[in-house]
Amino acid sequence: MTLALGVLASGRGSNLQAILDACARPGFPARVAVVISDRERAQALERARAAGVEAVWLNPKDFGDREAYDAALVRELEARGVGLVCQAGWMRILSPVYLRAFYGRALNIHPSLLPAFPGLHAQRQALNHGARISGATVHFTDEGVDTGPIIVQAAVPVESGDTEDTLAARILTVEHRIYPEAIRLFAEGRLKIVGRKVVVNPEGRG
Ligand code: GRF
Repeated sequence: MTLALGVLASGRGSNLQAILDACARPGFPARVAVVISDRERAQALERARAAGVEAVWLNPKDFGDREAYDAALVRELEARGVGLVCQAGWMRILSPVYLRAFYGRALNIHPSLLPAFPGLHAQRQALNHGARISGATVHFTDEGVDTGPIIVQAAVPVESGDTEDTLAARILTVEHRIYPEAIRLFAEGRLKIVGRKVVVNPEGRG
């Protein structure tokens, strides 16, 4: 049985696409069971439908508060037997209701070398700071913003003349590589959270 993924995406969904493409490769140990968005017109939902994956719009306006929304999110994920949730450009803050259900089974991707430049506009932050190197990070989700235990990182040079868009595009190409890599490590049972660190077992399960 391959690992069932739930992908949460608010927008364009290029990371979702990278995950869908990885899952389509022979031997990849995961499949996307459902894609959920908080935005009706998210391109991510179209990408899911095009790949024959269930696409669910969960409208925040239908719920009284964040906790009620997250409880519905958890119900949707659990109803499909999701074993790992991948936040891929998910723009809503997630409450303890979500983390109680999925801590240790929820990943996020961020376009910087954390702990540098968390939060919004990471590429702009890197440029404004004069960083020579930035990159991307896949980490377990915790209660903070981009603070959880780090699984995979990749460095990307900042070039003179870079704009937010050119740097973002260069970082995206490595995001598309490292997100599937982190999913594979999780699916193969090779990740263990120890305090704030992730230990990667080179052997895998069994
Ligand atoms: C990516 O840069 C990701 O790291 C950040 O939001 C962006 C989402 O892009 N969290 P996409 O929707 O996957 O194309």
